[in-house]
Amino acid sequence: MSLIGTDIAKASELLRQGQLVAIPTETVYGLAANALDSAAVLSIFETKNRPTFDPLIVHADSLESVNRYVLDLPRAARTLAEAFWPGPLTLVLPKGPMIADLVTAGLPTVAVRVPQHPLTLELLRSLDFPLAAPSANPFGYISPTSASHVAAQLGTAIPYIVDGGECRVGIESTIIGFQDGRPVVLRLGGLPLELIESLVGKVATTLHSDSNPQAPGMLKSHYAPRKPLFLGSRAEVLEALKVPGRGGLLFEGEAGSSDSTHGLVLSPGGDFREAAQHLFGYLRQLDAMPVEEIWAERLPDRDLGRAINDRLLRASVR
Ligand code: TXA
Ligand code: MG
Repeated sequence: MSLIGTDIAKASELLRQGQLVAIPTETVYGLAANALDSAAVLSIFETKNRPTFDPLIVHADSLESVNRYVLDLPRAARTLAEAFWPGPLTLVLPKGPMIADLVTAGLPTVAVRVPQHPLTLELLRSLDFPLAAPSANPFGYISPTSASHVAAQLGTAIPYIVDGGECRVGIESTIIGFQDGRPVVLRLGGLPLELIESLVGKVATTLHSDSNPQAPGMLKSHYAPRKPLFLGSRAEVLEALKVPGRGGLLFEGEAGSSDSTHGLVLSPGGDFREAAQHLFGYLRQLDAMPVEEIWAERLPDRDLGRAINDRLLRASVR
């Protein structure tokens, strides 16, 4: 089994040896390896059972470090990086030669971000290479937001998990690419689009594709629990919960007057941030409950509600 702890010197040493270490970030836990070492990066794909056509995000300690690994930084990218790094934002930029080709699945661009977690920033500063890290879950399953989530699924496959507590944001980073210097959203995530648009103006979207070569990881079926998940209005979910054998995920308020003991509420006060923080952990809890189906309430389509709906939709049966 993996050791779990906060020994950054140990994590640093393992990574230098080309081994994998799970790392906390503010979004979700990542499965990290030296992004300049192809053999180490290959073991990420093998351990996650992830297809090698799905590229990884490279994590660095600062914009200055990121500059060493990209060829160009469009003006809008600099604006966003300066405003939101460290933070839940990934930028897709022209790839420099040092990054292993396997990291980017052969694409001429590389996804980069500076994560906001004190332990992981300390770890990155102790290394003279950046870390390639996808979410630390088996491919297709719900992303981990605690060290115990990682241990439950990858505990026999990796030597060390850095325990940084519960992830503060709880859903993956927002991914922004650039077309002719103009920002385009490739994945909704922990940084609300409204905040991004307040700085760089209206941002185009290329989401929800079954086979989008720009973001192969954005396959529709993703982030999924093992049980079938159905998405509906609050009224539909409360109605569905009257049938035994169903678990429910509601946005706000009370779990309802249904007899179901299997209703979870993301945020009693209707706070998007709290809802995002609970989302993946609650989906895991529902997956572990003695129910056959999960019924989830669609959130209002604004702020982090959009990214949460995106995850629920990808997890759902359609
Ligand atoms: O919050 C996060 O982003 C977390 C933490 C660990 O940083 N990481 C994460 O990684 O969610 P992952 O591998 O689960 O998702 C990365 C996504 C994939 O969907 C991939 O297709 C996309 O980023 N991606 C990576 N490189 C890309 C590129 N060059 N162009 C377009 N999309 C890219
Ligand atoms: Mg992932």
